[in-house]
Amino acid sequence: MKVTIYGSGYVGLVTGACLAQVGNDVLCVDIDPRKIDMLNRGESPIFEPGLSEMLVANQAAGRLNFTLDPAAGVAHGLFQFIAVGTPPDEDGSADLQHVLAVARAIGEHLDDYRIIVNKSTVPVGTADRVRAQVQAVLEKRGSALEFDVVSNPEFLKEGAAIDDFMRPDRVVIGTDNPRTTELLRALYTPFNRNHERILAMDIRSAELTKYAANSLLATKISFMNELSNIAERLGADIEQVRIGIGSDPRIGYQFIYPGAGYGGSCFPKDVRALEQTALANDYTAELLHAVEAVNFRQKMKLFEKISAHYDGNLKDKTFALWGLAFKPNTDDMREASSRVLMETLWEHGARVRAFDPEAREETARIYGERDDLILCDSPESAIEGADALAVITEWKMFRSPDFDVIRANLKSPVIFDGRNLYDPNFLVKQGFTYYSIGRAPVRP
Ligand SMILES: NC(=O)c1ccc[n+]([C@@H]2O[C@H](COP(=O)([O-])OP(=O)(O)OC[C@H]3O[C@@H](n4cnc5c(N)ncnc54)[C@H](O)[C@@H]3O)[C@@H](O)[C@H]2O)c1
Repeated sequence: MKVTIYGSGYVGLVTGACLAQVGNDVLCVDIDPRKIDMLNRGESPIFEPGLSEMLVANQAAGRLNFTLDPAAGVAHGLFQFIAVGTPPDEDGSADLQHVLAVARAIGEHLDDYRIIVNKSTVPVGTADRVRAQVQAVLEKRGSALEFDVVSNPEFLKEGAAIDDFMRPDRVVIGTDNPRTTELLRALYTPFNRNHERILAMDIRSAELTKYAANSLLATKISFMNELSNIAERLGADIEQVRIGIGSDPRIGYQFIYPGAGYGGSCFPKDVRALEQTALANDYTAELLHAVEAVNFRQKMKLFEKISAHYDGNLKDKTFALWGLAFKPNTDDMREASSRVLMETLWEHGARVRAFDPEAREETARIYGERDDLILCDSPESAIEGADALAVITEWKMFRSPDFDVIRANLKSPVIFDGRNLYDPNFLVKQGFTYYSIGRAPVRP
């Protein structure tokens, strides 16, 4: 089948690569010439495990192409996927300018029936707005061409995006036209071989499903972070509590890790956007508001522990930071907890020596050259001469480090762990002062 995808970011590229991988003819359209140049040279502009290889193989097979030309995009695919960004507006609601720009471009160039598939995360009612936008442009052109608009929210996780797309838990399709459901079902058949994963529903429910999923996951995290702060005050160990509650199948072990707060391009903006949607419809979403408020506070947690340890005197101290990406297996730094920590340390006159296996370039792009940031090329070099180590992203390579090397390289053996990677009893025996989340600090 012929597929066009607008937006060559995390969602658009993964969707394009996976649809091409199963044999479709995919054309990806973006407005960023730098990205399109890179992609046409066979380079991926983002890091996502397995993506580069898949892009190169499908480009070589002629099934995956990239262009800046929306006219070529509209001419190409029966399916017109919109996978552009929907960043937060000033009040937290989703900014739909990119989605509506694509809708206008489709309206301008449409010359045959097309199915417009909204994959971006968009507020309830956006399919109607896209339809109205296309219709308005068509009317100006004096055209009565037919088209359909479908909601097909994406649930992939950065870091495991290819696997999630190839073996989805579910494929939500919101339509008001049974024929488009069948055409999309055919497109998704290769991903459905093990069992039927398509959940067909009305458009508004599909749009809300995406926000509901992300908001519930964010709620689980904020709940555990709230509990970790209570546990600290009560002398309880949140890790024991986590295991204690996770054993209940109604609760489950997934997504109940306490930590330094959630980041990324989805949870923070989607929780805020849903809260704004509720408000615009005369409902105050108290719980959603609290989820974000708890997360905002949690992102300061590690800094507060660091500051308390040094009695607020951080000027000219140097901190080694392990992990910059908002989570492991990605280079995405959007709303990453590391940014809050680094920026607050800098505000207090401290310096940072940071290491991340993938997010180094992105960090350099965001912060540029500055005297108080050294981007290191190994975890060992980050700790050289630092006053203490802070762990902020739980990359696997940080799980079992050589503590002798850490002790030998730090000015004093102090670790601030924002992801509870280490066993306090073990670390205290190794001679470390160790702070973690929701557990009492230990000192040798
Ligand atoms: N990143 C995730 O893990 C994830 C998961 C599920 C859903 N989503 C949602 O998917 C959407 C895309 O997210 P992302 O992380 O891939 O974004 P991204 O910022 O990585 O990529 C968006 C791309 O769209 C391009 N673009 C903007 N306007 C365009 C236009 N008019 N025509 C063509 N391209 C245009 C940008 O240049 C950019 O390359 C968002 O709504 C997001 O909430 C993201």
